[in-house]
Amino acid sequence: MPLPKAELHLHIEGTLEPELAFELAARNGVPLPYADTGELREAYRFEDLQSFLNLYYELMAVLRTERDFEELADAYLARAAAQGVRHAEIFFDPQAHLSRGVAMGTVVEGLWRALGRSEERHGVSTRLIMCFLRDESAESALETLEAAKPYLDRITGVGLDSAEVGHPPVKFREVYETAAALGLRRVAHAGEEGPPEYITEALDVLGIERVDHGLRCMEDPALVERLVRDRVPLTLCPLSNVRLRTVDTLADHPLPAMLDAGLLCTVNSDDPAYFGGYAGDNFDALRETLFLDEKRLRELARNSFLASFLEDDEELRARYLAEVEAYEFGA
Ligand code: HPA
Ligand code: ZN
Repeated sequence: MPLPKAELHLHIEGTLEPELAFELAARNGVPLPYADTGELREAYRFEDLQSFLNLYYELMAVLRTERDFEELADAYLARAAAQGVRHAEIFFDPQAHLSRGVAMGTVVEGLWRALGRSEERHGVSTRLIMCFLRDESAESALETLEAAKPYLDRITGVGLDSAEVGHPPVKFREVYETAAALGLRRVAHAGEEGPPEYITEALDVLGIERVDHGLRCMEDPALVERLVRDRVPLTLCPLSNVRLRTVDTLADHPLPAMLDAGLLCTVNSDDPAYFGGYAGDNFDALRETLFLDEKRLRELARNSFLASFLEDDEELRARYLAEVEAYEFGA
C-alpha cells in the first residue's frame, strides 16, 4: 500500500498521456504533427520551461469537448489513487482553452464530471484551482476571472503559471485582489526559473498562501527565515525540476536542505505525463536517490495535508493525517 498523500501542484493538462492525446486527436479530427506515440515521446526532451510549454500548449489542441476534459481528469484520478493520492488540488489553464474557442463551461463542467464522483469512484477528494497565464496580459486575467463567475462554486482558488521570467507577480495585483474579495484562495508559481524576489513579491503583493515551486528561495536566507516563521507551504516538483533543468540531477535537488532549514515542503508531480512520473513516482525517486528515510517521507506526506485547502472540511483533513501517522512502511 502506498503512503497516503495530497497532491497540491498538478496541472490537469499536464496529465495528457500520449495515448489519450492520439485517441482524442482521432475522435475530434485534430491533426497532430507526430506519426505516433513513440515519435511524440521523442519530443519530451526539454531545455527549459519554455521548451516544455511549447509542447504543452500544442498538445492541448486535442481537448475540445466536456467528455474530453472528463476523460482526462478521470484518467489522472485513477493513476493518482493507485499511487496513494487521497486528495488532489488540481490546476487548470482556462485561457489556453478560451483562446482556442473552447468555452469556460466546457472545461469546468467537463472536469467536474470526473471530480464530482472522484471520492466515490477513486477515493480521492478534490479541489479546483484556476490559473492565470502570466505571459498573457493582466486584462486577460481579469476577463478570465469574470468568465469563471458562474462556476465559482466549483473553484477553490486561483494560481499563476506559464513563462515566469519577465512576468513578475505585481502584474496581477488587481486580479488577485478581486479573487480575494470573491473568497478565492491564492497561490502562485514563483521561484521556479524566476528570482527569489518574485516569491517575496507574490507574498506581499498577491497575498498568496502557498508558493508553487519556490525552489529559488534558498538563494535568500531572509526569505527562507520568513517562509519558515510564517509556515508558508512550498509545493515542490522534483522530477519536473530535473526535466526542465532547474536542477542538474535529482541528486542535486535542494529538498533535503530545505527540510533541514525547517521549510514546510510538499512533493508533487506538476505535469506527470511529460516529466516521467506521478506523485508516488516522485516520492520513490526521492527515497532512492536522496535517501530520504521513513521519518522524512512521513513528514512530507503530513505536510501535504497540512498545506492543503481543507479548511472547509477539517474532519476529512484529520482523517487523512491519522492515515499518515498509522501508515506502516513496507507493509
Ligand atoms: N511552470 C509554469 N507553468 C506551467 C508549468 C510549470 O511547471 N506546468 C504547466 N504550466
Ligand atoms: Zn506547475
